[in-house]
Amino acid sequence: MNKQIIAHDEREMEEIGIDLAQRLQDGSLVSLVGTLGAGKTTLTKGIAKGLLITELVVSPSYLLARQYEGRMPLYHIDAYRISSLDELVEVGLDDLLPPEHGVSVVEWPERIDGILEISDIVVRIDLLDDQARRVEITQQ
Ligand SMILES: Nc1ncnc2c1ncn2[C@@H]1O[C@H](COP(=O)(O)OP(=O)(O)O)[C@@H](O)[C@H]1O
Ligand SMILES: [Mg+2]
Repeated sequence: MNKQIIAHDEREMEEIGIDLAQRLQDGSLVSLVGTLGAGKTTLTKGIAKGLLITELVVSPSYLLARQYEGRMPLYHIDAYRISSLDELVEVGLDDLLPPEHGVSVVEWPERIDGILEISDIVVRIDLLDDQARRVEITQQ
């Protein structure tokens, strides 16, 4: 399945995440591809809302991963600083890709070999202007 949507502002990006959450199951792996400021974390906030997570979702950055509890656990992973599969194992994140229980959402998935291929859903976000984003959702 392949779907393209325009998110005209931050709120619409969150809405896309809320909708996307309805398609997620236990063990789902979601990859978010897009440059800095594209809206990956904003989309993740929407996914969290859709999973009935009330806690504030912030960028995982230096922590590499953050866990939230909702309808099922959400693992929000930032792979920007990870450059190999070995390093992933070293920090123990390999268990989350995919997770045994819950949902993992990965920013910068292309930094780790093979992650895009094993993702259940890949979202590509392109900047159209300072507000509008093209969001392409591929369910593999
Ligand atoms: N349509 C949009 N969708 C998402 N974010 C938007 C949009 N328009 C403007 N923005 C702004 O762009 C920034 C996106 O930041 P963020 O979600 O952290 O991106 P990323 O995680 O991809 O680096 C936010 O400051 C947000 O307010
Ligand atoms: Mg981010």
